[in-house]
Amino acid sequence: MLVKQAACVGGGVIGGGWIARLVLNGVNVAVFDPDPEAERKISEVMANAERAFAKLTLAPRPPKGQWRLASSIAEAVDGAELIIESVPERLELKHQVYREIEAAATPDALIASSTSGYKPSDLQQGATHPGRILVAHPFNPVYLLPLVEIIGGPNAAASAIEHAMTLYADLGMKPLNVRQEIDAFIADRFLEAVWREALWLIKDGVATTEEIDDAIRYGFGLRWAQMGLFDTYRVAGGEAGMKHFFAQFGPCLSLPWTKLMDVPELTDELVDSIASQSDAQSGRYSIRELEHIRDDNLVAIIQALRGNDWGAGATLKAYEEQLYTRAHAAQTQTPTAQEDLSKPLLALETSVQPDWVDYNNHMTESRYLQVFGDCSDALFRRLGIDASYHARGLSYYTVETHIMHVDEVAGLEPIYATTQLLSADEKRIHVFHRIHHGRDHRLLASAEQMLLHVDTKAQKACPADPPILAALEPIKTAHAELPKPEAAGRHVGERK
Ligand SMILES: NC(=O)c1ccc[n+]([C@@H]2O[C@H](COP(=O)([O-])OP(=O)(O)OC[C@H]3O[C@@H](n4cnc5c(N)ncnc54)[C@H](O)[C@@H]3O)[C@@H](O)[C@H]2O)c1
Repeated sequence: MLVKQAACVGGGVIGGGWIARLVLNGVNVAVFDPDPEAERKISEVMANAERAFAKLTLAPRPPKGQWRLASSIAEAVDGAELIIESVPERLELKHQVYREIEAAATPDALIASSTSGYKPSDLQQGATHPGRILVAHPFNPVYLLPLVEIIGGPNAAASAIEHAMTLYADLGMKPLNVRQEIDAFIADRFLEAVWREALWLIKDGVATTEEIDDAIRYGFGLRWAQMGLFDTYRVAGGEAGMKHFFAQFGPCLSLPWTKLMDVPELTDELVDSIASQSDAQSGRYSIRELEHIRDDNLVAIIQALRGNDWGAGATLKAYEEQLYTRAHAAQTQTPTAQEDLSKPLLALETSVQPDWVDYNNHMTESRYLQVFGDCSDALFRRLGIDASYHARGLSYYTVETHIMHVDEVAGLEPIYATTQLLSADEKRIHVFHRIHHGRDHRLLASAEQMLLHVDTKAQKACPADPPILAALEPIKTAHAELPKPEAAGRHVGERK
């Protein structure tokens, strides 16, 4: 059950993120932060969060809550069911803040600290109702990253933990209950280990900050993002399994190439307990299935990064540009006379990607348009339109599309698409694309499109460059002999 009224004490990097997540989930938030710049800073985080959330999901969220600045902790926590403390990481300051909160809050309000490392029992010292103070440790940016570690320690009421687990899940988060109280909890223990090694690598002059970031973001960081540590190693062990993996790599931990001290001995007992926990975690999948899940996740992440031209996505983008350039060079070297232009051009061959399907496991509507768009792109590349052509402010725009859906195709099934040139002049290309099933060649869909050559700076139609028109000519001549597709020129709803 979502809370209606919350208080945030501290509205900096983390508090601001909490305020945004709460407000975007329809919760009203009263904020106390003595920083005179608090209103501006929180408004900026809110604007970022709204921008990101709008991209994250189109699902109907509750109407936005309101946030307001309060002039004291007492005023902020008045009537709040959830009180989030995100003040600087100093224990005596946190204690002082809890004293003020407890003096004004209702006794059943949950008090959740964002602390990165203090144990709940440290925080609860001196509290009137220690059982309702717990740690809810988030990750920056709080409005986007789902993980929140929930730690109650020995004194927290079981009902407070339960309440917190539901409450954060209702805010779209993944609450992880850290059952034993330890300094830095689970996630920051890792970050600390990685951080320690990074500091050594820099101090020893082995790597720069950029090289260290590259080592993470182009490789294992992508794997970790979607499978964490143990499932990744489960897959790495292959069919021989986790035990094999440890037999192979475990001893490395005692080699001198690590700075990690105090590595636990890999006794049979430890290996057995890791292997059986991993079986419980993912034993229901075969290694092959896990590999497919991993690969699909990685493809989705890398493609998303390509959209942002960032990290591994920028590498993919550069690689694709190289491939297109090479393919284009190969095409122009091959005399077109050798190509069989007496039939529609083969535009692309692929399979229906796992994320292209709807709830019936059929390729979903928007992906047809995407594939037809890819067909037009394939034609443009064939005509010699490349990044340098676009950089001159010249391009073809799609001005009209009519798609006809003929048959269904399921996820992962092979498809191919062809392009027939219906007509072309110096400004227009009129095409007819078809998508066929890759195995039985049945027609799945067709699209008739009008493509207009434009000067993108002037935003108006203009003639294509002579070499483009010359490349069009042999296709135009050959395709003039092809029968006009029945569906060409149809209007929506016309009887077959
Ligand atoms: N920055 C991170 O990545 C991160 C991640 C997880 C948890 N945390 C934890 O979150 C907490 C806040 O960290 P942050 O990074 O947001 O720090 P921050 O410095 O950005 O924000 C702290 C805010 O608290 C305000 N403040 C100071 N005294 C106050 C008081 N008496 N009452 C109310 N507000 C007061 C400050 O004006 C400031 O706006 C810390 O406990 C930190 O360990 C930080």
